[in-house]
Amino acid sequence: MPPAISRETVIGVIGAGAMGAGIAQVAAQAGHRVLLADAQAGAVERAVAAMAKGLQALAERGKVSAQDASSVPARIQPAELMDFAACGLVIEAIVEDLGVKRALLTQLEGIVSPGCILATNTSSLSVTAIAAGLKNPGRVVGMHFFNPATRMKLVEVISGVETAPEIAQAVFAAAEGWGKKPAFAKSTPGFIVNRIARPFYGEAWRAYTEGAADPATIDAIVRDCGGFPMGPFELMDLIGHDVNLAVSTSVFEATFGERRYAPSLAQQELVRAGRLGRKTGRGIYDYRNGVALPAPQVETGAEPVKRVVAVGSLGIATPIITRLEAAGVDVVRVQGPRAAQDISSGWLEIGPARLMMTDGRPATRRAMEERHEHLVLFDLALDYATTPRLGLARADQCGMAAFRTVCATLTRAGFACSPLDDVAGLVVMRLTAMLVNEAADAVAHGVCSADAIDVAMRYGVNYPRGPMEWSEQVGLRVFARALANLREHYGEERYRTSALITRKGYTGASFHD
Ligand code: NAI
Repeated sequence: MPPAISRETVIGVIGAGAMGAGIAQVAAQAGHRVLLADAQAGAVERAVAAMAKGLQALAERGKVSAQDASSVPARIQPAELMDFAACGLVIEAIVEDLGVKRALLTQLEGIVSPGCILATNTSSLSVTAIAAGLKNPGRVVGMHFFNPATRMKLVEVISGVETAPEIAQAVFAAAEGWGKKPAFAKSTPGFIVNRIARPFYGEAWRAYTEGAADPATIDAIVRDCGGFPMGPFELMDLIGHDVNLAVSTSVFEATFGERRYAPSLAQQELVRAGRLGRKTGRGIYDYRNGVALPAPQVETGAEPVKRVVAVGSLGIATPIITRLEAAGVDVVRVQGPRAAQDISSGWLEIGPARLMMTDGRPATRRAMEERHEHLVLFDLALDYATTPRLGLARADQCGMAAFRTVCATLTRAGFACSPLDDVAGLVVMRLTAMLVNEAADAVAHGVCSADAIDVAMRYGVNYPRGPMEWSEQVGLRVFARALANLREHYGEERYRTSALITRKGYTGASFHD
């Protein structure tokens, strides 16, 4: 049984790069004495000096106390590995190389006390593999911080095959004590965040390469309607396409070619062209000469209608009706022919057009099935009461005039209408349905709990809601149907529905039931 990690526990950090320095600061801020080592001469001193400067600047702006600004760096001491005998927890944040990490832990085993926990900040290697061959692999655990470690709250606590449960629990409690949001996961490719987030990028690439819209329009829809802090393309430009592609490729290869993780050929071409994103001045967007990002496409239409007929229930999209009324549009409500509570069964008659929510089928096919040629679909939104934008696609049969009438009427109610080509599942529905699918699969395969996924996605990548919360708000049946329609439309294994969704979808139960 390892001793609990208390404030008196000395924390060792190896690697004083971007992550190691941040982790050392987090531990020192929580009151620990920290020993920091790095193979490169002078690296620790430089890291601590940079940290002291940063804290000083924060103190001048009143963000940290003057006391902390001086005491936190003072608690971090440059050290040699031999000094680590005093540590109760050592976290390595050295180069991402299995052989080098294993060699370091083997060396540490000969130095630290038997009760000392050995944690790795690896982002992509197997914790099981890092621990393999050690005398006591049970004390090795993943402690995956996010960049920058001082600001990002999530810490994924990763158990390898041999990790003792009490070791994982001890670092979970320590992370909580440091003001972090820890989440347990098993050692699997991508752990939680890097696995669950794949469709956010992958489906955006698919929608773009299928001609749904230009990147700026897709980004605006994801940000404004989906509530995500950044659109996928601007985010990949920030992360760097080389890094993003490498993560996708490593998860794809580590899962023996699971099609859901298949990297994008278009992104590979960008990398080959050296357009890596902000860091090279160009990625999807052009950052040279401080050029502003392109504006998203918007269709304002011409003649709004004064009267709209609402047939059946729009479910979570009902605030569209409220917003139309608030804008002075007369909305006549009539009973729908189908189950009233089903969100995509209701619709709005706007002039000659019928406006419905996407259910994963393209508008063109749905127009045939609905026997209504002027069919327009709207995309999923986080909150229809406040969304400043809607993504809209018209069926091939729908005339442009009918589409523009819909846009003009919605524009009057405060929606910027961004036209999309008729791709299956549009943008936000497609991305979130696949995020929910990915999350369900992780739970089904015992990677982590449903709660851990929401914590991870909210605090690791700042999603507005975790996938499980999305499924509760929107209804699992809605996503189950969208996924089934995507699967049918593409005929690809990539869109197969997680067995857990299929099972829960029968009863409408949530993942927590
Ligand atoms: P970095 O390159 O900024 O820093 C690595 C540091 O480790 C360097 O100062 C280097 O001199 C030192 N180092 C290398 N080999 C060493 C050895 N054998 N012994 C002692 N020191 C050694 O790298 P970064 O970005 O801080 O990443 C470190 C680890 O954290 C990697 O495993 C990485 O996958 C992981 N990680 C990185 C994230 C990121 O966004 N950069 C996020 C989460 C995890």
